Amino acid sequence: MGPGPSRGGCLLRWLGLKICRRSTLVFALLWFGTWVFLNGLVFVHRTILSDYCTDDKSKRILQRVCEEYREGALTGDLCEDLCVSGQVEYKRCLYYENGKKVIEARWRGTPVVLKSKLENFSSYESLGLLEYQDPAEELSPLDVVFYATLEIRNSLGLDMGGNASLPPLWGQRMRERGRPYSRAELASLWSLLQQEEYVFLRVLQDLSRHVAKVLGSCGHFYAVEYLSAGHAWDQNIFSLEEVSAGPWTARDMVHRIALSFLDMAWRFDNDFSHRLHLCDIKPENFAIRKDLTVVAIDVDMAFFEPKMRDILEQNCTNDDDCNFFDCVSKCDVKTNKCSSKRRNSNLQVICQKIFRPWFSPTLLGAKAGLPLQVDLQRAVQECAETPWGEDEERPQALQKRLLHLLTRLLHQGTSSERGGADGEGVHSHTALNF
Ligand SMILES: *[C@@H]1O[C@H](CO)[C@@H](O)[C@H](O)[C@H]1NC(C)=O
Ligand SMILES: *[C@@H]1O[C@H](CO)[C@@H](O)[C@H](O)[C@H]1NC(C)=O
Ligand SMILES: *[C@@H]1O[C@H](CO)[C@@H](O)[C@H](O)[C@H]1NC(C)=O
Repeated sequence: MGPGPSRGGCLLRWLGLKICRRSTLVFALLWFGTWVFLNGLVFVHRTILSDYCTDDKSKRILQRVCEEYREGALTGDLCEDLCVSGQVEYKRCLYYENGKKVIEARWRGTPVVLKSKLENFSSYESLGLLEYQDPAEELSPLDVVFYATLEIRNSLGLDMGGNASLPPLWGQRMRERGRPYSRAELASLWSLLQQEEYVFLRVLQDLSRHVAKVLGSCGHFYAVEYLSAGHAWDQNIFSLEEVSAGPWTARDMVHRIALSFLDMAWRFDNDFSHRLHLCDIKPENFAIRKDLTVVAIDVDMAFFEPKMRDILEQNCTNDDDCNFFDCVSKCDVKTNKCSSKRRNSNLQVICQKIFRPWFSPTLLGAKAGLPLQVDLQRAVQECAETPWGEDEERPQALQKRLLHLLTRLLHQGTSSERGGADGEGVHSHTALNF
């Protein structure tokens, strides 16, 4: 130990510093005070955060689910593995806010995400019928399908069109089961139907490969496939390293992923009885599977046409009042109402926010000058800027052109790289991080 502070005003001499003047001392104290204060802030912040997203709390929440399972209050195809056979291994808490709980786990070796909008089963509204009916007198599967359909249509905002179609396969499966639903099954189903994201994913499961798969559920918790999301801080957007098991080069993969984005945009416009609008298009809300399929993993801002119209139709004084995240419409200054018809499209926003940075000349480097690349940049630019509006033909032509260019680039890529002279590794673009 060095000698302690000896003479007043020269506190720091023992540190070997010749700074004894009063102003220096004041400065040093101030600096120290700031340091303590900032550390305190970080500590308090961490404590508040960790209070909500800790392993302890997450495990307690899952324990409560299992207690209620054993009491017979809730059930699901995941419960046995979660609560009895220990086949669900807790990994970490990913997110917690206002009761919304997201947990990473492994289910029989497969990475999954466990989700629930509210942490407690009792926080969900119960099916009113259960309170009046004798538990022994169970509802018939047909009744359940009827009530579930109402709930689903309500949740997705499909109840104004008259004949909104029930998710075909899901409904069929519910109808075809031979035995009636037990109380726990109904209560569990109802807690799930109150979670818009679950309903949305569940409805689109059988209809699209571009949404995350729902793998199972226990009570109010459901498991979806775990995919790592894209990220905004890397122009690469997706960690190609994680899916590079395939025979593809980096450039190849980017083209394939772009093609999958195109496919998704086209299908969301055309595959369902109502157009599906994505109003929050950013890398974090998408992921890719090993086969390079693009998957929407956060669908809180996805709406079918009827609900979209409802959302857009607002009072306004100018066009800026008619922007709902990535979904915009025009202000009619005569009536002071926003048009209920969306003015841009999913593909347009994908071109703006994902393709344009991807295929920008700076990112492509020497390759940017190649004729096909130049054509692609032009097409992307045009796609980002073309107003969608009334004329449907131009956007469709643009979509076809992008498809054509990307397909040609893909073929070119595979034939030139067979020579092995390309030398383009998986990491090549990562050099351009910002
Ligand atoms: C959930 O239940 C636990 C235990 O009953 C309780 O301590 C907690 O406050 C509840 N959380 C919410 C958000 O209701
Ligand atoms: C609903 O569908 C039925 C048969 O599929 C059809 O006859 C009826 O006209 C439709 N109603 C509306 C409002 O679209
Ligand atoms: C929109 O404007 C109408 C008439 O100007 C008014 O009655 C209505 O309350 C307004 N709605 C909202 C949400 O401000």
